[in-house]
Amino acid sequence: MAGPTLMNTYGRLPIAFTHGEGCWLYDTQGNRYFDSVTGIAVCGLGHAHPAVSEAVCNQSKKLLHCSNLYQVPLQQQLGDLLCQVAGMDSVFFCNSGAEANEAAIKLARLYGKKKGIESPSIIVMEHSFHGRTLATLSATGNRKVQAGFEPLVSGFVRAPYNDMKTLENIARANNNVVAVLMEPIQGEGGVNIAPVEYLHAVRKLCDAKGWLLMLDEVQTGNGRTGAYFAYQDYGIAPDVVTTAKGLGNGVPIGACLAKGVASEVFHPGSHGSTFGGNPLACAAAMAVIKTIQSNNLTERARSLGEQILSKLKQEFSGAEYIKDIRGKGLMIGIEMTEPCPELVPLAQTVGLLINVTSDRVIRLLPALTMTDVEAEHLVTTLVRLIKLYAADDRKKPR
Ligand SMILES: Cc1ncc(COP(=O)(O)O)c(C=O)c1O
Repeated sequence: MAGPTLMNTYGRLPIAFTHGEGCWLYDTQGNRYFDSVTGIAVCGLGHAHPAVSEAVCNQSKKLLHCSNLYQVPLQQQLGDLLCQVAGMDSVFFCNSGAEANEAAIKLARLYGKKKGIESPSIIVMEHSFHGRTLATLSATGNRKVQAGFEPLVSGFVRAPYNDMKTLENIARANNNVVAVLMEPIQGEGGVNIAPVEYLHAVRKLCDAKGWLLMLDEVQTGNGRTGAYFAYQDYGIAPDVVTTAKGLGNGVPIGACLAKGVASEVFHPGSHGSTFGGNPLACAAAMAVIKTIQSNNLTERARSLGEQILSKLKQEFSGAEYIKDIRGKGLMIGIEMTEPCPELVPLAQTVGLLINVTSDRVIRLLPALTMTDVEAEHLVTTLVRLIKLYAADDRKKPR
């Protein structure tokens, strides 16, 4: 268990894992758990995926790191593949989601400066999450993440999610806006899915105003929502997209991709990273993308997600303790009417790892490689658990 030498930044559960295989994690006591968290949407191919293990193992015997002072052929190959998959023109590699968003924020500011805007602003959303660095927590729409770290980074204007009126008002009142940064589906905010018309309207407004549309697909990317990137299902293209999490299946790597004018903003010296896009991380990400492609895992995520959603809706039809069940692909939220953090340790007692976000949304982010039997196991175990919890909960005095 975590001791006093680790800084007190996490409220950790009293459990530690020794190894994993596919959808399953094994703890130090030898207990097995079905993992519907996957390291918070990281291990999309499941644990110890042979293609990733082999790629990491082989690369570690050749070259782990050499720095961006030199050509890195694997980084170029990964860049080509990722740009092709995303329909984007160029990419900057870093090590995390927050870093990918930092790159996007810097890119947008430089884009503004080049247009003669001295103090550029970026529109960000309520209930968003973009990371824990100073700029990304300032962009984040959650006071809990920001509290204590003031002064925040300036240059962000906030709008409610799914509210075009506010965006249009900002467009009329503010000449300094250079970009909109948003998640197509808010993850930490509670699995809030942007309606298709809304995202199209945002794209249209960005086009009309010369703003960059920057989508944070750190959580939604890499096949999770039933397309490689969620925007591909919406039928729009962003100017900038950021990703991380599932890209390395557990090996830290992030990416900020750009298209068109946004692709021409950075020049040598604008931005950089010591580790970003090193051979080890790139080998892992290459294996991830190729595995997603060769096994058609985006389609698998889509169909499994539809099955799970429809079973959950059927099981909880008329349940007064459920407010909503929603999702896209294998990013699913079950919103309870009351806060339900106790469900996490309770689930553990029945061999299930779940996550609760925004106090009352049970968030499922299982592996895209799940079998039908495993999906059935997840739904059956979870439904039984929630029903027992709700029955018990109603007896508790409030
Ligand atoms: C949408 C989104 N953006 C950014 C981040 C930050 O990523 P990281 O923790 O890798 O810095 C997260 C992490 O949860 C996220 O969900």
